[in-house]
Amino acid sequence: MENTVLLYDSAEDILTASKLIRKGNVVGIPTETVYGLGADALNPEAVKKIFKAKGRPADNPLIVHIYKIEEADKLGHDIPNIFYRLAAIFWPGPLTMIVPKNDIIPAETSGGLDTVGIRMPSHRVMRELIRLTGPIAAPSANRSGYPSPTSAAHVMNDMNGKISAVIDGGESRFGVESTVISFDDENTVRILRPGSVTSEMLMEHADNVIIDDAILNDIAEGREAPSPGMKYKHYSPQADVKIIDGDFENFCIYVNNNQGINTFCLLFDDDDTNKINCRYVTYGSDSSQQAHNFFAKLRELDSLNADRIFVRPPQKDGVGLAVYNRLLRAAGFEVIRV
Ligand code: TXA
Ligand code: MG
Repeated sequence: MENTVLLYDSAEDILTASKLIRKGNVVGIPTETVYGLGADALNPEAVKKIFKAKGRPADNPLIVHIYKIEEADKLGHDIPNIFYRLAAIFWPGPLTMIVPKNDIIPAETSGGLDTVGIRMPSHRVMRELIRLTGPIAAPSANRSGYPSPTSAAHVMNDMNGKISAVIDGGESRFGVESTVISFDDENTVRILRPGSVTSEMLMEHADNVIIDDAILNDIAEGREAPSPGMKYKHYSPQADVKIIDGDFENFCIYVNNNQGINTFCLLFDDDDTNKINCRYVTYGSDSSQQAHNFFAKLRELDSLNADRIFVRPPQKDGVGLAVYNRLLRAAGFEVIRV
């Protein structure tokens, strides 16, 4: 067990974090999507420590975070033009693009794949950290399988004693992880994980945008996952999560008839809570608010010892699709229609 130091967003603390990472340590880092566990992307021994701290399967690759576009050319090869066009529009920001990897990326970082996911984050502290350090590999900073952290306190909760430090850079702005895409060909974008760069936004800049099947469905029997993360159970709090899809009247009837001992509802801010005979928390009234709050609310429900959570699902377009994808995974893809 090492003592996890809490750092702040001062120049001095960012420099301290950079030195820790350059020496091969793991640091909890703020980004605009969720908090990450950062290590030197080119140092296999450092990267192994990330997998150990998270309890993450070794075949699940890490995203490499860069400071400027030229670094992408060092990390990957045969990069299609559309990569640069999308980078010019959406970077720095919550978009990860997968390209064939160069040898300088160790197999530990890429989970043994011959590709690498690259992202240029926009969070001020994270940018400064990468500028000082070089490319940083970082998955979300949760214990593997649990909800992603959107504050330094969440990271401390999961990682205290397992990593060298955490930088507190405030609450994550978006609250869901980056959109992950690959390229089927020069004009076809495949969305492997939806995020705050939405399919609607990508469609304005690519001829074809495919939403991979695994975003709304469990990975089909016999199909190799295009992204290893799709294979694993994800984002689950301790409680049993149930999606109750239908209008609010029917949601209330269902919940009022199916309560257990420690049942909670996860509702919209503007739902009429007089109609519900159950404890509840709310997670916003539009998709961006719901994205911002979703993981934090799952963690809050854990701390309330919820054993069952009935959730009002978000919209299934725009940023709502990103939230719905996380919710489906937390619920094991089961939807109760009312
Ligand atoms: O917003 C984010 O992306 C955050 C912050 C810290 O940047 N990071 C993050 O990393 O969410 P992680 O490891 O929790 O999720 C990355 C996902 C995983 O499902 C992984 O399987 C997939 O992206 N992925 C990474 N590299 C890939 C590759 N080369 N091919 C296919 N999928 C890849
Ligand atoms: Mg993750």
